[in-house]
Amino acid sequence: MSKPAGYSRTQIALHWIVAAIIGTQFVFHESMVSAWRAVRRGGVPEFDPLVAAHVWGGLLILALAAWRLAIRLKRGAPPPPKEEHPSLKMAANIVHWTFYALMIVLPVTGAAAWFGGIGFAGEVHEFFKLPLLALVALHVAAALYHQFVLKTDVLARMKRAQPCRPRP
Ligand code: HEM
Ligand code: HEM
Repeated sequence: MSKPAGYSRTQIALHWIVAAIIGTQFVFHESMVSAWRAVRRGGVPEFDPLVAAHVWGGLLILALAAWRLAIRLKRGAPPPPKEEHPSLKMAANIVHWTFYALMIVLPVTGAAAWFGGIGFAGEVHEFFKLPLLALVALHVAAALYHQFVLKTDVLARMKRAQPCRPRP
């Protein structure tokens, strides 16, 4: 498949919207943890807008991730910069596809715990928060390394859309 010259406007918007919602999921997770604890003790948690935001925000991430995946498979992504070492190209590829996997696994396990009452799904959900955080840290470090050390256009292309012009 020929690769596009850059990301589309939709890909860029979805990237930053999903990143912002994921950030919110982490910042306001305490209410969800307390509500879940109450459910596990057999109680009914009181209505809390932060719990509702975690549930609906998480399901929104799942829907947007599916949309992103469909675009990514149909349209593709721009090729990595030529000067990038092959091991870094491979690492970026692994990180990007692992992000997609986590953007599906986290909401699915969260929903299985919350709506299905499956305790083990809650444990899996909690377990995967750390790999996701670690990957975000690595991903941001890589973006900054590209920007300030390798001086490539990688950060710029996640800000400015390019038409779907094939590259040789
Ligand atoms: C990508 C989307 C999501 C992210 C990044 C995320 C993140 C988190 C985080 C960081 C915690 C705190 C874990 C802890 O410290 O114990 C948590 C807990 C929880 N979340 Fe989510 N969540 C997502 C989607 C969802 C969805 C869609 C639901 C339900 C429909 C959900 C239900 C829960 C429940 C029940 C807990 C408490 C159980 C536990 O601690 O694992 N989450 N989530
Ligand atoms: C939870 C947060 C994030 C997730 C899940 C995430 C996920 C992804 C994914 C899957 C891609 C591959 C392109 C695609 O298929 O859309 C990507 C590309 C990119 N991300 Fe993120 N990202 C996050 C946060 C960030 C942040 C905070 C930055 C900036 C410091 C950033 C900078 C970039 C850049 C520059 C690219 C383009 C890489 C390239 O073209 O090779 N991302 N991101």
